[in-house]
This record gives sequence, structure tokens and C-alpha cells, in this order.
Amino acid sequence: MIGGVPMNWMIEWPGPFPIFASRAKGSRITDIDGRTYVDFCLGDTGAMFGHSPNATVQAATRQLRRGITTMLPTEDSAWVGEELAHRFGVPYWQIAMTATDANRFALRMAREATGRRKILVFNGCYHGTVDEALVRLMNGKVVPREGSMPPPIDPDITTKVIEFNDLPVLEQALASRDVAGVLKEPAMTNCGIILPEQDYLDGVREITRRTGTVWIIDETHTWCAGPGGYTQAYRLKPDMITLGKPVAGGIPAAAFGLSQELYEKTIGNMLAETTGVNGLGGTLTGNALALAAMRATLERVITLRAYNHMIPLAKKFNQGVEDAIRDHDLPWHSVRLGTRVEYRFRGRPPRNGAEAIAAKDPLLNKYVHLYDLNRGILLTPFHNMALMSPYTTRNDVDLHTKIFDESIQEMLPPN
Ligand SMILES: Cc1ncc(COP(=O)(O)O)c(C=O)c1O
Repeated sequence: MIGGVPMNWMIEWPGPFPIFASRAKGSRITDIDGRTYVDFCLGDTGAMFGHSPNATVQAATRQLRRGITTMLPTEDSAWVGEELAHRFGVPYWQIAMTATDANRFALRMAREATGRRKILVFNGCYHGTVDEALVRLMNGKVVPREGSMPPPIDPDITTKVIEFNDLPVLEQALASRDVAGVLKEPAMTNCGIILPEQDYLDGVREITRRTGTVWIIDETHTWCAGPGGYTQAYRLKPDMITLGKPVAGGIPAAAFGLSQELYEKTIGNMLAETTGVNGLGGTLTGNALALAAMRATLERVITLRAYNHMIPLAKKFNQGVEDAIRDHDLPWHSVRLGTRVEYRFRGRPPRNGAEAIAAKDPLLNKYVHLYDLNRGILLTPFHNMALMSPYTTRNDVDLHTKIFDESIQEMLPPN
């Protein structure tokens, strides 16, 4: 394996090599040496509702025996479509394999609906390995994201990038009416959490509608806000929604949904004789196993009851981190979005990606992650981010608070 791992992100764990997992259940991972860890990474959201939740495992096991993939719909798909429509408020849905896929398909749909080519994303975003969105704003120019392998064409041609929480700049970027779609998380989560300012998202809706631009909300991470994501929790009205990661309990599956209006503008090419080459979907997409797992996960795992357990724990986690930061008088902060908590080495929460990127401290990051790992806690690599699962306990949170405090004490010079 290249780098000794089956997927190159896995070398990003602290230390010279990752732990190798032998078992993961609920909020615990056991490695091949028999050590057990409290897992706050949860597969970087893929296992946000716990590893191998019983309901998902039972449904998937049943379906494994009844046919994995047939290129035919199963009854589960009708249930899943209705449930997603009910939760997220847009009526039409299709399945994808990953959130990356869902975002790629959403961008195609936005281009189909508007006849425009460009897309707009926000500095500091991550929406998967979508060429147009793997970008940064550097001295006012759109450039490939640092470290990314070369895109097929210069992203300055395909993409506009602006900062989050800035409506006048959005207005200006969309005024030329050449942008097909705005792809955004309602709160940014991939350069740490950045919350939208008051009325900002209403402004995004108004400007995109007025300029005929498709507003796509990527709920892949912000699903942590509640059972119907940030969209339901804050009554947003986007034209499209994409989601993935935890939707089938960790079995690869994702989805994109669209409004009635967008459906009417795109249905022609979606149901034409050429659907096989319209650029949406793939051979294994929407397979019976994925749909069985999605149904069981939506019905019995991603429930209000689960959030009612997870959100208070996230509040407690956040409080523990804030207390330690205050007690040691550090210029850091912690921020929470639903079941997700993230802390940063900067006093005030950033307003946008540029401020968040400037606050990064890779060495301090490595220190905190390695300190935790050596004491039985897994935090998400790339971030100081923790997710609560339905299996996480108050004791798990207290353990993190204690270790976080000790990691600071050990790092600071003695008085
Ligand atoms: C907001 C967001 N969208 C999409 C993706 C892509 O997900 P996947 O890697 O499962 O395709 C990610 C991955 O981290 C993400 O954070």
C-alpha cells in the first residue's frame, strides 16, 4: 500500500504511522494490539451515529443475503426518498455513492438548470474531491488548493471564490449572472467551525434567487445540527441539498435533493433516453444494500432521540474545553455546532476562511492529537474536532476534559 495505508488520508494521524484498527463498535475503537480508544473522530463523520449501529447492521446483513446490487430499485428507495424529503424540505431525490459524488452531480444539475458554467464556493471550504471546489483564494486569485494534484483546467476559469459572511461580495460575484450554482455549507466546518452571522443565510437566499443562481447546501457535516440538518433547524429554503457520510451508518451512500422548480428545469435530460451518459450516478449507485442501510439508519439511528443524547454531551465537551482555556488564560477558543465541537488556537472565532486558515498551528495540532492518542482518545486528524455519538458517555467527555487540561499544563512553562 502506498504510504502503508489503503487511503492516503490515513497517514495524517499523529505519529509516524496510524494505529491499525481491529474492531470498532459504538464510540470505541480497538487496535490490533488490543488497546481500546474513546473515539471522537467517528470516521470523520462517516460513523457519526456510532460504529456499526445495530439497526444498520441487521438491515444490511439481511440485504446481503437478498442481493447486493441489481440495477433495479427496491422498495426501500421509496421510503428513503420520502423520508429525505420530509426531513430536508426539498421534494425530489437521487442517490450517490459519496458526498463528493453528490456535489459533482449537484453542480451538473445547476449548470443544466441555468445554462451557466461557473460555480461559486467559499474560501476554506471542502466539498470532497470536486475539481472546481478544491480551490483557495490567494491574493484575490482562485488557485488550486495547496497540496492538491493538478486539476484538468485552471480553476480560475471554472470557479469564483469569496469569503464567508460577506453579502456585498456575494452580491458583486453574482451580479454578472454567469454563476450556475453557489455550493456552500450553511456553517463552515472544514477550516474549523465558522458560524453564519445573523441574517447572513437569508441574504444568501435573497441574492441567489434574484440573480437566478442555484443555491446548493452541502449538509454532509452540518447534519450535526439536527435530524434534518442545519436546513431544517434554521428553516432554510435552498434549491438543492447534498449529503453523504453517515446516511447509511458508514456503508457508502449519499444523496442529492432538489426543489420542484429545479426538478422541472432538469427533468428533461434526467429522464431522456441518454440517462446512462448524463453524468449522474454510476453502476453501483443506489444499490440495494445501500438503500437498506439508509432506510434502517434514517428510521432507527439518526433520530431525534439520538440528538437529544448527543447535543448535551457536545455542550459539556465545549464547556470543558472553554474552562481549561480560561483557567490557563490562553488566547484560544472553542465553538460548537450541534453535536460537533472544535477548538482553535486563536482568541476570537474567525468570520471567514482567511481568518481561520491564518489561525492554523500545525505543530500545536500535532502535539494535542498525539497527547490524546497516547492517552486513549482519538480526535479527528486535520482538525481539533470532536463528534459525540449516541454511544458517547459523560465519562468519555470528562476524560477528554481532564486530558486536555493536562496537555496544556505540560506544554506551558512552569510559573
Ligand atoms: C462538507 C463536505 N462535503 C463533502 C465531503 C466529501 O465527502 P466524501 O469524502 O465522503 O465524498 C466532505 C468530506 O469531508 C465534506 O466535509
